[in-house]
Amino acid sequence: MRNSPGGLPGAFFARDRDQHPPAYAPGYKTSVTRSPTKPLIALDNTLSEMTGPVFGHDRLGPLDDDLILNFAKPGELPVGPRIVVHGRVLDENARPVPGALVEVWQANAGGRYRHRKESYLAPLDPNFGGCGRCITDEEGWYRFRTIQPGAYPWPNGPNDWRPAHIHFSVFGHGFAQRLITQMYFEGDPMIWKCPIVRTIADPAAVERLIAPLDWANTIPMDARAYRFDIVLRGRRSTLFENRLEGN
Ligand SMILES: [Fe+2]
Repeated sequence: MRNSPGGLPGAFFARDRDQHPPAYAPGYKTSVTRSPTKPLIALDNTLSEMTGPVFGHDRLGPLDDDLILNFAKPGELPVGPRIVVHGRVLDENARPVPGALVEVWQANAGGRYRHRKESYLAPLDPNFGGCGRCITDEEGWYRFRTIQPGAYPWPNGPNDWRPAHIHFSVFGHGFAQRLITQMYFEGDPMIWKCPIVRTIADPAAVERLIAPLDWANTIPMDARAYRFDIVLRGRRSTLFENRLEGN
């Protein structure tokens, strides 16, 4: 089993609550009613949290990592700037996380989601679905092709907008490494006006959510590239990491 060399993996590092935004952040209106009202209780990782989930690679379709094509009608393409988003998934010990499931979802170039509860007046793109997924390779790399999403307004304060962003969900080597986050784009002035971004106290932590333009990997006459590396919680125990399975 890939995620437990030498037997059972060790426990994961505890989440650093100074880095993550608080659950209760009044500037982000819906956090008020959905945040816990009682103090949190820390539980030890259970076996299933440390060893699951295990994914079958054959469940991914050939276009799952290509949002430009995976919803487009034959011979048609979605509207908007073509981009490549790629990076590495690492753990807190800077080791690559191979076999991680990376899922993304996003609005189209006009800032409109394909969702039945979406109410923004920007139009749907008939050739863009806005969902994709892939599995990291042996060095922890993932890569998507997509359309750069647009900013959109949302009902929070009197005039709040989300900066252009891509939602990410990552399953690492166990449920304790589950991460859900958002990627923003270098140079976007909307980032610093967003009430959700502002729930993050440390500007340096916000910067880590901003993908720089990756000129070296930009494809001439085709697509600009953005680089977004993701760090999951590492395993505290490194004792068995170099032992082969069954040893
Ligand atoms: Fe969003």
